[in-house]
Amino acid sequence: MQVHVFENAAQVGQAAATLIAAQVLSKPDSVLGLATGSTPIPTYQELSRLCKAGVVDFSRVRSFNLDEYCNLPVDHEQSYHSFMKENLFDHINIDINNTRVPDGNAADPAKEAADYDAAIANAGGIDVQILGIGRNGHIGFNEPGDAFVYGCHIVNLTQSTIEANRRFFESEADVPRQAISLGVGSIINARKILLLATGADKAQAIRDSIYGDINPQTQASILRTHSDVIFLLDKAAASLL
Ligand code: GLP
Repeated sequence: MQVHVFENAAQVGQAAATLIAAQVLSKPDSVLGLATGSTPIPTYQELSRLCKAGVVDFSRVRSFNLDEYCNLPVDHEQSYHSFMKENLFDHINIDINNTRVPDGNAADPAKEAADYDAAIANAGGIDVQILGIGRNGHIGFNEPGDAFVYGCHIVNLTQSTIEANRRFFESEADVPRQAISLGVGSIINARKILLLATGADKAQAIRDSIYGDINPQTQASILRTHSDVIFLLDKAAASLL
């Protein structure tokens, strides 16, 4: 495991984008695991810039997102489908048919979850997985709990996550209570993992992930079992290390 600490969030984004660009340059049909949240936005801006500058070609890249809210229309401005279009897909030359975000409105959620894991396996697995981290140490929407869940599944969001996501909705009542998320098993199956964290509100989760027990109460702690994981942190997120 590697930990790199940068001055600020912009540098974290540049470092992550550099690693992803290198991946796509060395394997043009790479399978990327993508994340939402504020943290990867500088990374996506830098990847958009590199694509527009003709440095990176995403035309053969396939992507799978980590998660999506349940019972939120895909075209809702806070859906992760909308987020990905607005922050990345509309700005790079990826074929939208090669991108997939889990369907949080599927009539049969268990089938959607199983199909999602199968689609990743059929694509040959994820080459590079980008992760943010929740203030409670969650990755994707794998909330603190009694176990690590292996496969894609439906999650009941914790009060802490609902409160953290409240800022994106008009009221707390509008924040979805459930999500569909890749399991930690599917996440650690990725060949390389980049975990990005910026800001002091992530410092405790980062400390617990790196120094605490490998424990499902801090879901990101499982990443320490992976042989190729890089934490890219700003000074504030690294302040308790
Ligand atoms: C949500 C997403 C996570 C993300 C987390 C942190 O819960 N499901 O994938 O890592 O938010 O978001 P932010 O980067 O905005 O702090």
